[in-house]
Amino acid sequence: MSRFAQKVALVTGGGSGIGAAIARELAAEGASVVVTDINQDAAERVVQQITDAGGTAAAFVQNTAKWQDSQAAVAFAQDTFGGLHLAVNNAGIGAPPQNIGDYDVEAWDRVRAVDLDGVFYGLKFELPAIVASGGGAIVNMASVLGSVGIAQNAAYVASKHALVGLTKVAALEYTAKGVRTNAVGPGFIDTPLVRSSLSPEALTHLENEHATGRLGTDSEVAALTLFLLSDAASFISGSYHLVDGGYSAH
Ligand SMILES: NC(=O)c1ccc[n+]([C@@H]2O[C@H](COP(=O)([O-])OP(=O)(O)OC[C@H]3O[C@@H](n4cnc5c(N)ncnc54)[C@H](O)[C@@H]3O)[C@@H](O)[C@H]2O)c1
Repeated sequence: MSRFAQKVALVTGGGSGIGAAIARELAAEGASVVVTDINQDAAERVVQQITDAGGTAAAFVQNTAKWQDSQAAVAFAQDTFGGLHLAVNNAGIGAPPQNIGDYDVEAWDRVRAVDLDGVFYGLKFELPAIVASGGGAIVNMASVLGSVGIAQNAAYVASKHALVGLTKVAALEYTAKGVRTNAVGPGFIDTPLVRSSLSPEALTHLENEHATGRLGTDSEVAALTLFLLSDAASFISGSYHLVDGGYSAH
């Protein structure tokens, strides 16, 4: 399949986990991919995997919490591959669990700066660039915690909920200009970080919170993301799509 032949894609936080899976799979389906990450080695490793597999990619170091970096990343895509058609605003971080009364204000600012402000900065430069290239699509990586809460994660939950609203505004403003924007809400995904930060009992409990009885995989999130970026999703814009194994069904 080459659903994305001749397309240029930008994936933020593409050096690890879900973003890396999306970058690899976009490249496998024909896109030229700019893999951006705050971690240069991680971005370069994913670019190497893509080129080793016969795909086309380039790495760019970006802190999504700085608007100048978002502007530079989009310019890099245009300079390197001649335009921009697809973007995945995927970079995101969490913070140590705390109740709101004890919540560290700097942690609040740090999470909001990446998980919400960073996506706004991305959209601000991606949307006009995609219009200029003749149209395309964007996916913002929210979370199931963009529609339900969880204790002790105020900054993450609030930022991911706000991201769903931001996605709707982007769609209202730019869909008629040829850019569809949607949000994806993964449940808990089986990454080394999630697995290593939980005791075996806590992991079993978390798995059972999903109707599937297991965590998701990064390629399951990538599959939904690629569908939303593809022409098969031509009537889908401004909406929020769960890939949460039934986590929010109860
Ligand atoms: N893993 C999960 O269970 C899960 C569930 C729901 C949503 N998500 C969301 O999916 C996205 C990716 O998560 P993941 O689990 O793959 O995380 P990850 O930690 O494996 O990868 C995130 C990548 O983003 C990069 N990054 C961090 N801050 C950055 C910044 N300021 N600028 C640029 N890059 C930065 C990191 O270096 C890393 O390579 C995040 O938005 C996260 O909130 C993850």
